[in-house]
Amino acid sequence: PYEDKVKELLDRMTTEEKLGQLQQLTWTGDTGPGGGQTAHTEAAARAGLLGSVLNLHGARHTNALQRMAVEESRLGIPLLFGLDVVHGFWTTFPIPLAQAASFDPAVARRDAEVSARETRSNGVRWTFSPMMDVTHEPRWGRIAESCGEDPYLNGVFAVAKVLGYQGAPDGTDLASEDRVAACAKHFVAYGGAEGGRDYNTVDVSEQRLRNLYLPPFKAALDAGVATVMAAFNTVGGVPAHGNAHTLTTILKDEWGFEGFVVSDYTGVEELIPHGFAEDGADAARLALNAGVDMEMVSTNVTEHGASLLADGRITTDRLDDAVARVLRLKFALGLFDNPYADESAAVTEPTPEARAAARETAARSMVLLKNDDSVLPLDRDAREIAVVGPLADCTDLHGTWAGPGAYRFLSVSVLDAVRAAAPGALVTHAGEDLAEAVAAAGAADVTVVVVGEPPALSGEAAVRSEIDLPAGQRELIEAVAATGRPFAVVLLNGRPLTIGGWLDRAPAVLEAWHPGIEAGNAVADVLFGSVNPGGKLPVTFPRAVGQIPVYYNRENTGRPYDPARHEEKYVSKYLDLADGPQFPFGHGLSYTTFATGEPELSRAGIPADALERGEMVEVAVTVTNTGDRAGDEVVQLYVHDVAASIAQPVRRLRGFERVTLDPGGSRTVRFRLGAEDLGFWTNDPAGTFTVEPGRIDVYAGTSSTTEARRTLTVT
Ligand code: IFM
Repeated sequence: PYEDKVKELLDRMTTEEKLGQLQQLTWTGDTGPGGGQTAHTEAAARAGLLGSVLNLHGARHTNALQRMAVEESRLGIPLLFGLDVVHGFWTTFPIPLAQAASFDPAVARRDAEVSARETRSNGVRWTFSPMMDVTHEPRWGRIAESCGEDPYLNGVFAVAKVLGYQGAPDGTDLASEDRVAACAKHFVAYGGAEGGRDYNTVDVSEQRLRNLYLPPFKAALDAGVATVMAAFNTVGGVPAHGNAHTLTTILKDEWGFEGFVVSDYTGVEELIPHGFAEDGADAARLALNAGVDMEMVSTNVTEHGASLLADGRITTDRLDDAVARVLRLKFALGLFDNPYADESAAVTEPTPEARAAARETAARSMVLLKNDDSVLPLDRDAREIAVVGPLADCTDLHGTWAGPGAYRFLSVSVLDAVRAAAPGALVTHAGEDLAEAVAAAGAADVTVVVVGEPPALSGEAAVRSEIDLPAGQRELIEAVAATGRPFAVVLLNGRPLTIGGWLDRAPAVLEAWHPGIEAGNAVADVLFGSVNPGGKLPVTFPRAVGQIPVYYNRENTGRPYDPARHEEKYVSKYLDLADGPQFPFGHGLSYTTFATGEPELSRAGIPADALERGEMVEVAVTVTNTGDRAGDEVVQLYVHDVAASIAQPVRRLRGFERVTLDPGGSRTVRFRLGAEDLGFWTNDPAGTFTVEPGRIDVYAGTSSTTEARRTLTVT
């Protein structure tokens, strides 16, 4: 709808002004090199040589800079302010990995809606979220920002976030005061970094690229995502920022993406150390020609664009295309009509409703890994409860890439929340000191041991070679166990941890992730049973680092391990480790128990065991709450193509639904499966999706290890 306006503006722009629209500068040097550009940024805004600003927020501040661009520059083109609002602006929701564990996309949508309102009212109309990097690498710190190891789950959550931020998929809500533009990142395969080391090499086959890494991006595009961010890694030797195959052939040509591609922070410049570009001019040429539209922080496109154009190394068409993409979004966001934020309407703190949403989301995200002897839920009327461990009174549980709220508002600590939840109990506390913790645990009816990773241990450039609990925490658990008194471990962390060393000694373990601003309250809600935990693992928990990568959607190998023939030598296994993970994808317990029936396949109400292209079957699974309290179960649907022209994962998630059931209550969950849900992408670089005839195993149950199976034949 803005084509005429875009064209009219483009016709009036000089080459320098066009290049300026492709430049984003940072207000402060928050993340990496290139900061400290504030004076330069103001000058560029006044001169009309700047498209976007990163890391400036607050209506008064953004308005001041916006005024320079709108009122002082020749054409008055407004700036687009962008910020990493990944799981909250003021109101910090749980980290995205935690949200994925809810298996409830509604929580991600609500986070995005709350975040969009807070963000926009503070002058920012663009967030660098959602992140949808599928990964099999728990060592990688950025796993905290992703939705884990499954492409389908990542896709469902990406869609929920995009709709929450942007509203209608056609972009018509973008101008509203409670919406922001989203950014699908990082394109692509960043989660495949070798060894989990950040920014590292990714060498990936076309089929794996298309079957594993690309689907969430395609889903986000179908939901209307306005922008895409390039990834720091190489893809098959070609840096993602210079990768015409992924950025142009697939994203723009094959998928028809009409938004713009922003580089990551100095990502264009990094083409030089990658060994791909000779110098800045070469980097600008390669990035622009590959499909990057806007350069974040480094300034190669603006510095060298004019000479590249004069030499014919970039074309006017490509330059105009990039500028048009940026301008189109500025029009859609209403920036030309109203470039300023209403300073009197700025949201300045989390509202009670937003806090309630964050608390509910955090509680829904928690995964009960173990609960022997029903140690949990705790009795509110206990005489004495000890809360011990280095994170017991921690008030920074926002997690990585938290928004500005993390610097202004403390998280509720577990200790404070337990005190509030059990006012009749004596709540004692000990931190890291072993003797104090043991004394407290020995005297208490029950102890809560709060351990895990401080937020700085996960996130960007926070890679760990060992992913067990930090020093001293295992000893703390062992010491509390040695008291012989009941206790539960609460884990606060940003990635899967190897917990096998002490798991046998702990009767109950609650995975609470980094839960955000309402952390302690949400933990207490679950500990005392006002919320019955229903989350499931969105990522495999390994037994040991040496086993990584270990993930549920793996290929079978020609010599799979068979537990019934444990002694067999020439099979795919480790000599010194039990087979399989500590906890599989999809695992999670409840304070109640559930029974799930066998999956039933039908079409139009008639049992069906065959499917043709274009047809659908219904998979029905009945789940019953067989315990004595209300609770949630996540019914999960997996498929496996038994013989195909490309070896297929042993299981692939194709559907899930979280249901709440009263004691004795029953629900039949129905999934629709089309032949297209059973197909896969081949290694053809031109993109071939195939649905092959043959046998498909359809599994339904409550974790990725379910054995309940029906067979479907694709004809
Ligand atoms: O959005 C982020 C990205 O995920 C990592 N590098 C910096 C960007 C902007 O802050």
